[in-house]
Amino acid sequence: MKLSPSILNADFSNLLAAIERIADLADFIHFDVMDGHFVPNLTFGPALVNSLREKISLPFDIHLMIDRPALYAPSFRVRPEDILTFHVEALDHPHEAIAAIRKLGCKAGISLRPRTPLSLVFPYLDQVDLVLVMSVEPGFGGQKFMPEALERIRALREEIGDRGVLIAVDGGIGPENIGPVVEAGAEVIVAGAAIFGSPDPHEAALRLWKAAGQPRN
Ligand code: DX5
Ligand code: ZN
Repeated sequence: MKLSPSILNADFSNLLAAIERIADLADFIHFDVMDGHFVPNLTFGPALVNSLREKISLPFDIHLMIDRPALYAPSFRVRPEDILTFHVEALDHPHEAIAAIRKLGCKAGISLRPRTPLSLVFPYLDQVDLVLVMSVEPGFGGQKFMPEALERIRALREEIGDRGVLIAVDGGIGPENIGPVVEAGAEVIVAGAAIFGSPDPHEAALRLWKAAGQPRN
């Protein structure tokens, strides 16, 4: 298992400190980029992500909840180990976004909303490094986990077979459901409120590792 804490619920006035507090328990840092159009919320864009990129050594897991991801992807100054993920619903020709991300030399991820048929990502499984399964409607942190996601993770695991594509799950994950999510086949766990909504984010991240029954390596 890999843990990707989402900073959406962290203190935006002190993001660097918030990230440093949990860095030893994180494998990625998850950034939710929202444009107020693809999702009904606005967060931040490349300027913020790029300025943090210079100060943090952990890989970035950048979740683009925006229209026209192929247009904006090149604005992110990514490293080879970073992941740039776009939504399959955001464009008519997803391969354009995959090509734009590949050109940057980082990993490419594809995501889908909870009610989007899983089969929409199947044609791209040979072209991406990761599929991000949403277990809440994208837009806000702190929502309730949709248990239907478990079946989708299992089905995706089956479809991926031995292709080596990672499955990430995002939304409503906490100590109470991380076990079944990992058991269903998720390898990258995104967690926001369960970590940064806690008065002690480091302790909360440790609780997630323990609840998952995974050795922290
Ligand atoms: C929701 C975002 C998530 C969110 C997860 O649109 O994509 O990454 O931050 O936060 P929690 O864990 O609070 O659901
Ligand atoms: Zn996200």
